Amino acid sequence: MEFFDVMENRSSIRKYTDEPLSEEEIRCVATAGLKAPTATNKQEIHITVVKKDDPVQAMIQKDLNPEAVVNFYYDAPITFYLSAMDEFGWNDIDAGIAVENMHLAAKALGLGSVILGCMKKVVCGKKKEEYDKLLCIPQGYSYKIAIAVGHADTEKVPHNIDFDRDVTVK
Ligand SMILES: Cc1cc2nc3c(=O)[nH]c(=O)nc-3n(C[C@H](O)[C@H](O)[C@H](O)COP(=O)(O)O)c2cc1C
Repeated sequence: MEFFDVMENRSSIRKYTDEPLSEEEIRCVATAGLKAPTATNKQEIHITVVKKDDPVQAMIQKDLNPEAVVNFYYDAPITFYLSAMDEFGWNDIDAGIAVENMHLAAKALGLGSVILGCMKKVVCGKKKEEYDKLLCIPQGYSYKIAIAVGHADTEKVPHNIDFDRDVTVK
């Protein structure tokens, strides 16, 4: 898909089919994250690929909200967890840029995705060490953001923008 069509038509998808992602699709989305720019070219982002039936998904859900009707990853076949080096001041921004690259790459591949911030308090909370191990987060790194990716089972109209309110041309 052409780049501006991807940007115009993307939205956050919260319903997925059971169809798994191919190895190539997984690799392509993760590669998009690693291709993102990082401050001083530090390349301090690590990505962990987690399948929906991995027990860590259920564990996070239980710690987050065991009564939720819909789970935090919307039953997407794959959740990518991005972590970043602790001792680097740009790590949050770099993780944000990387995850958006992945979101746009998923759309370009004909997939749906949603960026996930809601689990941070669980994954970086009092069980951080346990989750670091379960999510294969490298030593000296911390979880930053995640993105659930799969085949969309719904359509969502892209959000409206208000250019005149939000852009000042001086
Ligand atoms: C940093 C960040 C964290 C987010 N966390 C969640 C989340 O935990 N769960 C969720 O369903 N959507 C999450 N979203 C998606 C936003 O809710 C979504 O982008 C916003 O509602 C605008 O909708 P759109 O992406 O379809 O334009 C997150 C988005 C961002 C950028």
